[in-house]
Amino acid sequence: MGKINNPNQIVLVTGRYKGKDNIITMTWWTKTSFQPNLYLISVGHIRHSHEMISKSKCFVINFMPFELSKEILYCGKSSGKGVDKFKETGLHKEEAEKIDCCRIKEALAFVECRIIDSFVTGDHTVFIGEVVNADFKKEGKRPFQLDRNVFVTTE
Ligand SMILES: Cc1cc2nc3c(=O)[nH]c(=O)nc-3n(C[C@H](O)[C@H](O)[C@H](O)COP(=O)(O)O)c2cc1C
Repeated sequence: MGKINNPNQIVLVTGRYKGKDNIITMTWWTKTSFQPNLYLISVGHIRHSHEMISKSKCFVINFMPFELSKEILYCGKSSGKGVDKFKETGLHKEEAEKIDCCRIKEALAFVECRIIDSFVTGDHTVFIGEVVNADFKKEGKRPFQLDRNVFVTTE
């Protein structure tokens, strides 16, 4: 247990601004209300995604399979300011249905959110998103962070 860093499920959050799509790896997220149906994500101020998401006012949480850990790690170590993470990882885009954003085709499940509120917590901003569309596509093992660069999964 001593090694566990953030024992949350790791997800990929997609954002779009001015026609450019980006992916950020995230561990600081959670569902936070049933009615209305809300999720929150906490995004560092220096991230490219912070600017994109705060301006576009929407995002998608993509629940990814453990098998794509290499791609997930890449999206958490490179910035969309300089690279096209879809191109570099080979992950595929599909259009979100209810917001102007893309989803990741390989995701096991997704949640499309429209931002209804946000607040600053230290060097991050918490964005609160109301779910406007969500679906569960297929079963699969999901990644959790064990250590900085190491993901584990459940049986
Ligand atoms: C496993 C893992 C989890 C991460 N979780 C978060 C997070 O919850 N919030 C955050 O702001 N950054 C998180 N990061 C860092 C961003 O993913 C990373 O800085 C990324 O390069 C930002 O990309 P961008 O500049 O294209 O937005 C995480 C990185 C990794 C590897």
